[in-house]
Amino acid sequence: MRERSRVEETIFAMQRAGAGSLQVISDFDMTLTRFAHNGKRVATTHNILDNRLLINEDCTKKMRELLNIYYPIEIDASRSVEEKLPLMVEWWTKVHELLIQQKIRKDLLAQAVRESSTMLRDGYKVFFDGLAEHQVPLLIFSAGVGDVLEEVIRQNHVFHPNVHIISNYMDFDHTGVLRAFKGQLIHTFNKREGALSHAAGLRELQGRPNVLLLGDSLGDLTMADGVSEPQNVLTIGFLNDQVEERKETYINSFDIVLVKDETMDVPNAIFRYITSSRDNK
Ligand code: TMP
Ligand code: MG
Repeated sequence: MRERSRVEETIFAMQRAGAGSLQVISDFDMTLTRFAHNGKRVATTHNILDNRLLINEDCTKKMRELLNIYYPIEIDASRSVEEKLPLMVEWWTKVHELLIQQKIRKDLLAQAVRESSTMLRDGYKVFFDGLAEHQVPLLIFSAGVGDVLEEVIRQNHVFHPNVHIISNYMDFDHTGVLRAFKGQLIHTFNKREGALSHAAGLRELQGRPNVLLLGDSLGDLTMADGVSEPQNVLTIGFLNDQVEERKETYINSFDIVLVKDETMDVPNAIFRYITSSRDNK
């Protein structure tokens, strides 16, 4: 924490206002999902599609080559966001074109998710169930693939009615074959635009000026830009990779930085405090 007193004051203010004033905005890949498990990287929503059921060997090879080129750029502490922006558009556009060529079938997505290495962070159930119980809306804002993301949370039994998703959704033809991606492309560094055009209009989020924001990328910090008249915003950043190179920037950007923490323990503890009874304090 850069400023412990600010964090404490924000949490106190959120607790005084109660769950009715709160909304949670979270990134998905490597924020709600784990970064690694037993020393191996966990699949992102795009990487879940890397399954022979859905794509051929040539496509796997090309997607991995693109990942090897562009992921290091995404997390490069020495490059500016302005510099990264067009490169991220390039990465996402190329990957989506490759996926469309594969004629992916909608009815096979669930099986690909089941066979993948994807895993939500430890404590995810307490997190999702707690928010649902207190009717706190959870906006998942992801540059991943929305259809895959939905299947991951469905298979983990946490796709509750308070969950709202903004992501890249697949457009299937009438036979259930992928033919395009819907709407404006979302990548790691244009979430501000999505926040203003989509999140700002979500009725369920209105009248909730307190925001708990979770992300693993600096681009995730703009996910709350669509909140009108925010009062207390607490940002939590998961620093998973390139820790030493990025620590200082993360500490200067997020209110709380969790280093190589594969759990939801800190967000869960904060939420528990916010929803605890004022009489017990
Ligand atoms: P997020 O916004 O839910 O975190 O999703 C974006 C992440 O997806 C980003 O950190 C990079 C990752 N990604 C892949 O793993 N493979 C891909 O092919 C692409 C385009 C993105
Ligand atoms: Mg992420």
